Amino acid sequence: MSTFGKLFRVTTYGESHCASVGAIIDGCPPRDEKDLVQLQSGLEMGVTLGTPIGLLVKNEDQRPHDYSETDLYPRPSHADWTYLEKYGIKASSGGGRSSARETIGRVAAGAIAEKYLKLAYGIEIVAFVSSVGKVHLPSTISSASTSSEEDDTAQDALSKDFVNLLSTITREEVDKYLTRCPHPETSEKMTQRIIRAKNAHDSIGGTVTCVIRNVPSGLGEPVFDKFEASLAQAMLSIPATKAFEVGSGFKGTEVPGSQHNDPFVKDEAGRLRTTTNWSGGIQGGITNGEHIYFRIGFKSPATISQPQETAQYDGTPGSLATRGRHDPCVVPRAVPIVEAMAALVVMDQLLIQNARKTAASLLPPITTLPPTMIIPKKDN
Ligand SMILES: Cc1cc2nc3c(=O)[nH]c(=O)nc-3n(C[C@H](O)[C@H](O)[C@H](O)COP(=O)(O)O)c2cc1C
Repeated sequence: MSTFGKLFRVTTYGESHCASVGAIIDGCPPRDEKDLVQLQSGLEMGVTLGTPIGLLVKNEDQRPHDYSETDLYPRPSHADWTYLEKYGIKASSGGGRSSARETIGRVAAGAIAEKYLKLAYGIEIVAFVSSVGKVHLPSTISSASTSSEEDDTAQDALSKDFVNLLSTITREEVDKYLTRCPHPETSEKMTQRIIRAKNAHDSIGGTVTCVIRNVPSGLGEPVFDKFEASLAQAMLSIPATKAFEVGSGFKGTEVPGSQHNDPFVKDEAGRLRTTTNWSGGIQGGITNGEHIYFRIGFKSPATISQPQETAQYDGTPGSLATRGRHDPCVVPRAVPIVEAMAALVVMDQLLIQNARKTAASLLPPITTLPPTMIIPKKDN
């Protein structure tokens, strides 16, 4: 199935070289909204009706002839062979449904969710490129992994620069750079790294980091639909993803609990906050109101134009050098997809939590609670 979400549901359709790709969004609250893609349904005079919204994006540049050599060869590490195994037939050109063209419908759906989240809750979602090959955005590098085995100090795994970046980074700053890495020197190094891959008829991978700010506490389900589990599913559904980590992630495993715990403190409004945020804004699968941040690893794209020794569909060994369009590095283009998928997760989890609260508020209240279930009140 090609549907994501439970209450805010997005179903995408289309292959890379068919007439159009798009999506049906169901569960969008009615509101005043226009969009740039061709809207087929669910909208009248700039107002969403609450009924399913159909989004259509025409594939203008259809170039099936580029891919003729892949009639003979499944591309190594692409989806040609596994699709054939699954369906017994493959799209005659390009990546078909496995192509990143499919994600256009998600990005359009995510844009609608994002606007709603921003207006209704002030929620901000910003993703940026944090590495290309071995070139890393400096504030995301941890020295914890390079220090000695006996050294338990947290070092800069959650550095001030990184925390500051997460709190302040904007989409405008990210989009100033073609690489979508918001750091001039690193962006330039990344550009050179991508050019090196392109000149060698090769490709290179990278990571995207994303922060979601102002998410209310209490979102996420306690067991299978934990907030981070939904995020992981959403992110790992993006083509070419190979890794996902949330909060301190793999780096956090090197830091003892005494330093890794996020202690509580009361803020000016009398609300409990945490003084650090190793948890990445999620505890027990439920948002705690702090910034949610996570990182996704994208592999080096499979389609490369240098010859590769491999085998044809019938097993005949041979050399494949793929022609046609290919990205030497996908991470700059993956940034809006990550943001869109994050928006879909937040939107869906918000609707689920609001449905639960609304349903609970309609039930008659229980007037007598056992003493152990009452939170003790203290004078200020
Ligand atoms: C924005 C974006 C652009 C992509 N462009 C290409 C490309 O030009 N060539 C390619 O081989 N793969 C590209 N991919 C990745 C493939 O779609 C993906 O590797 C393929 O479908 C196999 O799936 P898997 O890598 O998730 O196993 C791109 C992915 C994204 C997110």
